[in-house]
Amino acid sequence: MSSKAIKKRVPVKKKATRKSALAKKVSAKGQLYAGLVMQLRGLLTGEYDFIANCANFSALVYHALPDVNWAGFYLLHDEELVLGPFQGRPACVRIPLGKGVCGFAAKQCETVIVPNVHEFPGHIACDTASNSEIVIPLFDGARVLGVFDVDSPTLMRFDDRDAEGLNELVTVLVAHEEGLED
Ligand code: SME
Repeated sequence: MSSKAIKKRVPVKKKATRKSALAKKVSAKGQLYAGLVMQLRGLLTGEYDFIANCANFSALVYHALPDVNWAGFYLLHDEELVLGPFQGRPACVRIPLGKGVCGFAAKQCETVIVPNVHEFPGHIACDTASNSEIVIPLFDGARVLGVFDVDSPTLMRFDDRDAEGLNELVTVLVAHEEGLED
């Protein structure tokens, strides 16, 4: 084989390797969340106490996701989010709707990924170790019940795959409480 031919093959091979590493990372995350959905369904089976189920949900996610330092719920009471079951360091108890990342996600009714919490205007720092965050609203139809919040000490820890996986998990939780599952 000529050296020209070898040179030509090298970049093709490198590109393919990089691509498959990314694909593997993406599918590993997908598998992690698929496994969590199955474990969550197991934990929920036969139990309809919402607080108990939220407590197990937080513990499941906190211990399964790598590189997180807080995972838990804020539940909406009137115009205020009130701390619910969580894992991690003690956190602020009340967040007005619209304030912080949690209040913003609840008010806008949308998932919020914050790559760097220090750049989010009005971010509420409960744990100084947190550098990035994802907040998922919980819906009963169109009504917001609260949010599920996960923090990480790593910048840019969360991506769309986390948003998708966590949304699926909270959807299973709420559907179970409403008797739409099982
Ligand atoms: N950082 C959140 C507050 C909750 S803690 O992260 C547990 C916020 O800005 O709403």
